[in-house]
Amino acid sequence: MAPYRHQPHQGLIYLRLCNNQKYFSVVCSTLMICEADYGPDYGNEWLYFVDDNGTTHVMNFSSLPPESRGLIYGKPHFYLYTRQNLNEAEELFVNYQNDHINSTYFNESNDVKAITHGWLSNTRTSWVQNIKDRLLQVADLNVILVDWGDLAANPLYPWPALCTRYVGRRLSKLLEAFRNSYQVRSSTHLIGHSLGAHVMGYAGMFSKEQVFRITGLDPARPLFELPNMGPNFSLDKSDANFVDIIHTCGGSLGYENSHGHADFYPNEGQSVQPGCKGSMRYTDSCSHGRACEFFYESIHSGIKFNSYPCENWERFDRSECRTNPTLMGYPADVETFGDFFLHTKNESIYAIDDDEGS
Ligand SMILES: *[C@@H]1O[C@H](CO)[C@@H](O)[C@H](O)[C@H]1NC(C)=O
Ligand SMILES: *[C@@H]1O[C@H](CO)[C@@H](O)[C@H](O)[C@H]1NC(C)=O
Ligand SMILES: *[C@@H]1O[C@H](CO)[C@@H](O)[C@H](O)[C@H]1NC(C)=O
Ligand SMILES: *[C@@H]1O[C@H](CO)[C@@H](O)[C@H](O)[C@H]1NC(C)=O
Ligand SMILES: *[C@@H]1O[C@H](CO)[C@@H](O)[C@H](O)[C@H]1NC(C)=O
Ligand SMILES: *[C@@H]1O[C@H](CO)[C@@H](O)[C@H](O)[C@H]1NC(C)=O
Repeated sequence: MAPYRHQPHQGLIYLRLCNNQKYFSVVCSTLMICEADYGPDYGNEWLYFVDDNGTTHVMNFSSLPPESRGLIYGKPHFYLYTRQNLNEAEELFVNYQNDHINSTYFNESNDVKAITHGWLSNTRTSWVQNIKDRLLQVADLNVILVDWGDLAANPLYPWPALCTRYVGRRLSKLLEAFRNSYQVRSSTHLIGHSLGAHVMGYAGMFSKEQVFRITGLDPARPLFELPNMGPNFSLDKSDANFVDIIHTCGGSLGYENSHGHADFYPNEGQSVQPGCKGSMRYTDSCSHGRACEFFYESIHSGIKFNSYPCENWERFDRSECRTNPTLMGYPADVETFGDFFLHTKNESIYAIDDDEGS
């Protein structure tokens, strides 16, 4: 993902939140979020987009306008993988008339893991495929890849940022359709990177039944934490029973502050992550992606990511906090609460085999 702050500034964006009547200037164009005024379909089935000239356009997800003005439309696709279909995805289609679904491979006995990507990406990207393959090696699961690549491909960042709400709502409908159609006895864990973390936050927020766990892999900061959109418009701990966040490019592309039940700060949670070398443009996106690599490694590696509760990075870095380690990533303890710090290596295997304090 190209860093937001390096985009050429073509104008101003005004983001208006009707509940608190705030205006924020950001970049490029004008957007409005105004749920209260426009009814429950707003943000889910359609959106207003106001262009540089102040002209208002209705973005209707159900029907393409005659002239799309360079904006890209599309619907998310859901692909199911299980141990019965490791290599061939089953695309899932919800029947929105009765909120049911008919799947060949879904196994109601097994847990559900859903994974999604961020801006300018899709589920063919290697980290999504790697995590999916590794999860199915370690457990018998229903792994759903949420591909909203058509929407995420838009270079105008605010558009995909707004679409996270629509995609998240669609995913919540899919999860609901499974519960309506099967005796689902298993738990649901949603995993998303960058803007995808907010897709998962919205999916959790819109779900009638509380989602068990959401893992945010360096959740996107622009237009979520900066400006601060609050819990109804960004991933936070109200979205699931357990929200764990791995920060790797905090304060730039990723969340700077703690928003989960457990927030993990490898290498201070910021750019430049060890091993990310080169220009700032490169080091930021490398650091931003590192959260996905840590999570992938945590699924299978014998070496655990021990992380330590501490007031701040400075104290941790002076080795003042080396007790009560807890695990970062896939095996995280869902009862954990607080901020946790750790160092990693500069390349895979990233985890440091430290027995200190344990
Ligand atoms: C705004 O108006 C100008 C002049 O009419 C036009 O050239 C430009 O394409 C318009 N911009 C957008 C985003 O519609
Ligand atoms: C969006 O399109 C659908 C299908 O054409 C239509 O039923 C609906 O009223 C439209 N919504 C808006 C807000 O224009
Ligand atoms: C599900 O699809 C199969 C195959 O298309 C069909 O035979 C079956 O009746 C469908 N079940 C439901 C509940 O719609
Ligand atoms: C569903 O999963 C259970 C437990 O993981 C397994 O025993 C069962 O055979 C699976 N069912 C099908 C149809 O694959
Ligand atoms: C968030 O949404 C809920 C439900 O619509 C509403 O009750 C609550 O006031 C909202 N919170 C904020 C901070 O807007
Ligand atoms: C990681 O650090 C080692 C030892 O300092 C060095 O040899 C290696 O080239 C580094 N790898 C990367 C990817 O920076």
